[in-house]
Amino acid sequence: MRIRSVLPSDRSQLIDILSQGAGFRSEEVACAIELLDAALDPSDPTQEKDAWGAGGLGPPRTTAGGSEPSQGSVNKDGYEARVAVANDNERVLGYACFGTTPMTEAAYDLYWLVVAEDARGQGIGAALFAGVADELKQRGGRIIRVETSSLEGQGGARRFYEKTGFKLSGAIPDFYRQGDDLLLFAKVL
Ligand SMILES: CC(C)(COP(=O)(O)OP(=O)(O)OC[C@H]1O[C@@H](n2cnc3c(N)ncnc32)[C@H](O)[C@@H]1OP(=O)(O)O)[C@@H](O)C(=O)NCCC(=O)NCCS
Repeated sequence: MRIRSVLPSDRSQLIDILSQGAGFRSEEVACAIELLDAALDPSDPTQEKDAWGAGGLGPPRTTAGGSEPSQGSVNKDGYEARVAVANDNERVLGYACFGTTPMTEAAYDLYWLVVAEDARGQGIGAALFAGVADELKQRGGRIIRVETSSLEGQGGARRFYEKTGFKLSGAIPDFYRQGDDLLLFAKVL
């Protein structure tokens, strides 16, 4: 398994992963696809090839809009995605979508982290996140935040983030709906 920047050719496999077995509601799938498409948006003229595959790494730079997308694979909205792919056939096993948090100094949001249903429990989610965290640390990232539902994956998402070194930093009871709390996790990079 290796981790690289997302490519347009990954899109259909990623939509299958999001739509089948991830347990997301249809509006969540639609939102995830929107961010994926933003991450795939080639309109950023600074795109460069690098060791990850399609995108480049680099130190943060400030745009006129105030957000801090870094040089390379970051599109104009600051969304980025990395995929975990099988070594032998390039099958997409999972992906992480993240971006800079506006109005912060070197803080990031992890928007989505999803592993194909039949590939879970093999360390792929942890490896994908570790790859993203290493990359963000290299470019000076300080902290990463995740908002998730207390019911996501029947509580599996919460356990995954706790195992991956995130700290529960806040909760809003019944935020998404009655009995479905918003959980805020953060990890210092
Ligand atoms: C959450 C998710 C990304 C985890 O990916 P994964 O590849 O199965 O996770 P890993 O195998 O890397 O597990 C890492 C650790 O988390 C734990 N973990 C992962 N999923 C878990 C679950 N459902 N319940 C309990 N623990 C879990 C593992 O036991 C492992 O702990 P260990 O290091 O002590 O062995 C995956 O289950 C998924 O895609 N779920 C659906 C989407 C989702 O809920 N995403 C998160 C919110 S966006």
